[in-house]
Amino acid sequence: MTDRIAKLELNGESYEFPVLSGTVGPDVIDIRTLYAKTGHFTFDPGYTSTGSTESGITYIDGGQGTLLYRGYPIEQLAEKSSFLEVSYLLLNGELPSKAEFAEFEEKITRHTMLHEQMVKFFEGFRRDAHPMAIICGAVGAMSAFYHDSTDITDPKQRVIASHRLIAKMPTIAAWAYKYSVGQPFIYPRNDLGFAANFLRMCFAVPAEEYVVSPTMARAMDRIFTLHADHEQNASTSTVRLAGSSHANPFACIAAGVASLWGPAHGGANEACLNMLREIGSVDRIPEFIERAKDKNDPFRLMGFGHRVYKNFDPRAKVMQQTAHEVLSELGVENNPTLQVAQELERIALEDDYFIEKKLYPNVDFYSGIILDAIGFPTSMFTAIFALARTVGWISQWKEMIDDPKQKIGRPRQLYTGATARDYIDISER
Ligand code: SDX
Repeated sequence: MTDRIAKLELNGESYEFPVLSGTVGPDVIDIRTLYAKTGHFTFDPGYTSTGSTESGITYIDGGQGTLLYRGYPIEQLAEKSSFLEVSYLLLNGELPSKAEFAEFEEKITRHTMLHEQMVKFFEGFRRDAHPMAIICGAVGAMSAFYHDSTDITDPKQRVIASHRLIAKMPTIAAWAYKYSVGQPFIYPRNDLGFAANFLRMCFAVPAEEYVVSPTMARAMDRIFTLHADHEQNASTSTVRLAGSSHANPFACIAAGVASLWGPAHGGANEACLNMLREIGSVDRIPEFIERAKDKNDPFRLMGFGHRVYKNFDPRAKVMQQTAHEVLSELGVENNPTLQVAQELERIALEDDYFIEKKLYPNVDFYSGIILDAIGFPTSMFTAIFALARTVGWISQWKEMIDDPKQKIGRPRQLYTGATARDYIDISER
């Protein structure tokens, strides 16, 4: 923290507010007393200049294009760690010892099954329901099945709820997929790793053995790691706001799932692959670039741009490298969609509009190509994002609930509606 101050001159009065420093990143002006002192609110729709909380979990430097999980660079974690080890790190703040990791892995493994009654819950959906609709419902419904871990004032219950959510999301996501393709649910296996278990639950059928490709499992695990957390993005802020009212953790994560679904956020990976397919060939790229630049056309290049990154999204770089590995393993490196993506990236990054607005590929630009190559339909892309982001959401939720200064979130507004007026009876209207 710091003893520096920011001065505000308003209506002939002078006000001072403390300037606070974190360990790294922009300083903040602490305006918690602004309204009490000045009778004014700040105004920042979209929170472009607003810090909503203190956090020690994830740090992004948008100018440098760096992303740290508890201080560790995402590139190192993607290469050397695993999603479960990263989950432990995000939840607890430190990398686990061998014994700590073994205990954590055992706990997660033992929570991967769902209450059998939830099968009926899935069967209530239409077969053509979007997997995110099913996941949103199923996660919210968990608060009806796991009453013994909904008391947020009990630290033990908070831990069990966290483990249940991390462990059961792959089963929920896989079953949402199976339900949509009319195949029987495949139960988790305790002898498989986290990512391999998910792939098997998605692609195995009872009629034959299913052997998970180690390359696909590694790629899946890396995709989970790259999506695990990302500061106070829209869905994480949704989880925090829901949690600030002391709603149970399952309800809070369901709210996060709902927010992530939007195409401006986690839904961009599905939208991006659909866009790449619509472009279809490299000779149509200029037409779409022009549309993206046309203010009168709502079309945007999906998978491009970011509120924080004004340089490369480091996740996109790792994802691009993974795409090459997966596609060459599958012998489809000349995948037309990948060729369109790479040419689109090259052209866009040379275009003045994208350079001036600092628009680079984000995490969603290449992920869809990998997921498509592994065999997922586009409707499952955001579901996989939600599966991975659950550990980030629950880590941020835990940090908020553990904070003794935590208060309910309640933003104010600039009111521009009608002033007080008397009711007029309908006979006189
Ligand atoms: C994720 O917040 C996170 O951390 C999110 C995320 C995470 O891990 O949680 O990183 C995951 O959501 C990644 C982003 C996925 N979304 C997309 O790929 C959708 C396409 N991108 C855009 O919708 C947009 O870039 C956003 C939503 C990502 C960011 O929007 P901002 O920060 O509000 O920026 P903006 O809309 O104000 O854009 C600034 C300018 C605008 O032009 P002007 O009004 O200044 O003239 O850039 C333009 C925009 O029109 N612009 C684009 C563009 N993105 C921004 N123009 C064309 N194509 C684009 N993709």
